[in-house]
Amino acid sequence: MVLNVQATGHEMTMNCGLQHHILSTSAFLALAFSSCLFLSLFVCDHNESTVKARPESELRSKYVREYVQNKAVNLSDNVQADQLVSGKDCSIAVERRYDCGRDRALTQAQCESRGCCYVPLTGSASSGPPWCFYPATYPGYKMGALVPTPRGQEASLTRSTPSYLPRDITTLRLEVMAEEAGRLHLTLKDPVLTRYEVPFVAVSPSKPTETKNLLYDVEYQPDPFGFIVRRRSNGLVLLNTTVAPLLFADQYLQMSTTLASSVVSGLGEHYTGLTLDLNWTSVTLWNRDMAPHSDVNLYGSHPFCLVQEGDGQAYGIFLLNSNAMEVALQPSPALTWVTTGGILDFYIFLGPDPQSVVRQYHQVIGYPMMPPYWSLGFHLCRWGYTSTKATRAVVQKMHQARFPLDVQWNDLDYADKRRVFTFDPQRFGDLPKMVNEFHELGMKYVLILDPGISSTSPPGSYKPFDEGERRGVFIRNLTGQTLIGKVWPGPTAFPDFTKSDTVSWWEECIRDFYTKVPLDGLWIDMNEPANFVQGSINGCPDTELDNPPYVPDVIGGQLNSGTLCMSSKQNLSTHYNLHNLYGLTEAMATYSALLKARASRPFVLSRSSFPGLGRYSGHWTGDVRSDWEQLRYSIPAVLLFSLYGVPLVGADICGFEGDTSEELCVRWTQLGAFYPFMRNHNDRPNTPQEPYVFGQEAQAAMRDVMMLRYSLLPFLYTLFHQAHTSASTVARPLFLEFPSDPNCQTIDKQFLWGSSLLISPVLEEGVVEFPAYLPPGMWYSLYNGKPYSSKGQYLLLSAPLDTINIHVRGGHIIPQQTPALTTTASRRNPFLLTVALSTKGWARGELFWDDGESLNTFESGDYSFLIFIAEQTQLVSEPLRVNGALDGLVLGEVRVFGVPTPPTGVWANGREVQDYSYRSDTKVLTVSNLALLMSETITVQWKL
Ligand code: GLC
Repeated sequence: MVLNVQATGHEMTMNCGLQHHILSTSAFLALAFSSCLFLSLFVCDHNESTVKARPESELRSKYVREYVQNKAVNLSDNVQADQLVSGKDCSIAVERRYDCGRDRALTQAQCESRGCCYVPLTGSASSGPPWCFYPATYPGYKMGALVPTPRGQEASLTRSTPSYLPRDITTLRLEVMAEEAGRLHLTLKDPVLTRYEVPFVAVSPSKPTETKNLLYDVEYQPDPFGFIVRRRSNGLVLLNTTVAPLLFADQYLQMSTTLASSVVSGLGEHYTGLTLDLNWTSVTLWNRDMAPHSDVNLYGSHPFCLVQEGDGQAYGIFLLNSNAMEVALQPSPALTWVTTGGILDFYIFLGPDPQSVVRQYHQVIGYPMMPPYWSLGFHLCRWGYTSTKATRAVVQKMHQARFPLDVQWNDLDYADKRRVFTFDPQRFGDLPKMVNEFHELGMKYVLILDPGISSTSPPGSYKPFDEGERRGVFIRNLTGQTLIGKVWPGPTAFPDFTKSDTVSWWEECIRDFYTKVPLDGLWIDMNEPANFVQGSINGCPDTELDNPPYVPDVIGGQLNSGTLCMSSKQNLSTHYNLHNLYGLTEAMATYSALLKARASRPFVLSRSSFPGLGRYSGHWTGDVRSDWEQLRYSIPAVLLFSLYGVPLVGADICGFEGDTSEELCVRWTQLGAFYPFMRNHNDRPNTPQEPYVFGQEAQAAMRDVMMLRYSLLPFLYTLFHQAHTSASTVARPLFLEFPSDPNCQTIDKQFLWGSSLLISPVLEEGVVEFPAYLPPGMWYSLYNGKPYSSKGQYLLLSAPLDTINIHVRGGHIIPQQTPALTTTASRRNPFLLTVALSTKGWARGELFWDDGESLNTFESGDYSFLIFIAEQTQLVSEPLRVNGALDGLVLGEVRVFGVPTPPTGVWANGREVQDYSYRSDTKVLTVSNLALLMSETITVQWKL
């Protein structure tokens, strides 16, 4: 049986028994033996009625392991860890045990037959340190001599003793590329057969950097193979992979490494804080339609983590691999990557500071796109705006209640029988007219677009499917027919976005629809891809891909739970390999389609994600519940996506699932006003949560914070420009800005916009006062300039229902604009500069400004760029570059925070002005009623 399997991790499915990998007799016997054990374990589990009674989600590897270890094996709690077991050195500290049975549950005999140590501990075997672990020395690959290549060095790795896994790749090629002073790139591949590799990387391998310039040193342990990466400046060991054997089999690749500290962020998408719990936990990376909750794989996969070293330095690890993956974390601290296919393609980023790590990572995955200006405004959506009439009424009520609204959305309600690229002739018959009306109001319109194409309309009546079938754009099942699953419209086919014909067809579908409905952006949902039946309406065949020897701890227990059959075929490879790229490839095609149809900067919002998504799309965090805990965890979710290169991100304000409450919705709107992407979205059965449905006090609080956001949009837009051109972050965790402050390492209830604004929201019910951390330095209330000089301390902040605390950092200048109900209007309003002087009396800031919607304005030089410099008694606004976008725009007001004494006079461009005020209590100087052209140099001076 084992010999007739298919080489599933390879680029093309091919028969790969003995003819491709020459196995020794003993290797063959070991394979056959372990498969039989696995088989018997499987059968025995399914004979157990207790197992059958459990829900699907519990039939996971951990459960099976616990079952076997607790029931089938004699527990011996009293065994000491430090001992020799059957001649092996098992004297390994408990926290340094590396699991020898990560691929499956093992009995003692099975563990020992692998040559591993079996030393049970008190407590459950399913959590905590492993009972079966590798002894101090365990056979692995042997490394040959390193030889130079044009890109670096390479060596051959050979395994003479088979591992316990089916289909070892016995010879590997290691390639080590010193691509940049701070970037090490290391790959392990099969030198004979091309295996599947992720097809998208932004950088191509460069010439090696001179060794003397590197921030790191690499050492190798030749037998068994492992490597150690040290930070050259202080000798700190960042990675040490010699601690456990490297495994590289067709469908199971494993590498462990120690980490330099336990402060680790990343490995999303999960419902976690900003840093991960390393206490014998694991995270699974497998894109899944799953409402955010703990311990499960969610919509996206980001095999990247950032480790804070504790002294302000940091490094990052990125495993460029799209197969189903589990990363085990242990407190030593260490992690073990396990992936189920592809190659091992590691990038190590040396920083040395965390912001540099992020930039080095984004250099590899691609810098984020520049969003259209309007997309930074307020978006309103719900599932349940059931007609154009209902949708128009919402917009009207928003305007009547004087709430800003840039973008009105429709969910699936618009579509005829929920089929994309159609609109319901009765309820949405005048959709094009409605969209034009919104445009006349200076607004934009976005609607949902699911990838599933309904397959059951009568032939000739639904072009997207008919034409798609004709052009062969859909994912096929193992036997070559279009795979049919089930999503909102019923039976559906799934476009294969890795095929160029599909991209053209998708572009045409969008263009055709756009000629009827002049939409402004697309919301691509259900693109994990989600499927309401497992695999397909006909189930899945029994192949090594559909039933792989090892399945990571995915929700639902099987890779095809909630998605397609793994053996289904896409142009680039199997769905097994490409699953995690589905949303990314759809985003790429949608971006391209919008660009062609609208000839301006595209707006795409995707639920599913993979490294590189931010080049094409924003992201929202999916079906969050309307509760306080979800409000609180939306902050780390947003911050982590900043690290992942998707700065345009936000959670559904007021919550999607379940009814919100007025207080929750006010607090969520306040926090949401500081999500880079701000959308209120609600599920069908819930009570309405548009801002205007609440009481006057709640409405006023919401209106104030929305107006505050609108006033800050020039600053927010400039932050996006910086992210787009230099890979900085927009919503920023405190540790990126204050890396040497130990208090900031894990803070994720507060965050920054860029380096200048500190946002401290209320995250708990009934709270109107709470301690917030102010990093060392001068801070000022954004509202009234009240100063706080902090040594790095918690401060009790007052936060009545109408207040979210925002502090400006001394030394920074924030460009603002008088707000309006749309960005179309606000972009024409006078600017305001908020100058927050440092203790030494200076401040800096900048503004990027363009037409807000043309593509590549920076790249083509079609933009304006202004710098602002304040020193003691003057502010200068200096345009370094001016284009037509700035025409007629004026500076209307200047606020200077931290002016020590009342000025005796104020001058603007040399002319004395009368319209100024000074408050001695807060030390704020306000100069109003200016009308100075932003396209020219402006000087505002005050005499003390
Ligand atoms: C999914 C989306 C949600 C949307 C719904 C209906 O659950 O996550 O935002 O409203 O589908 O389209």
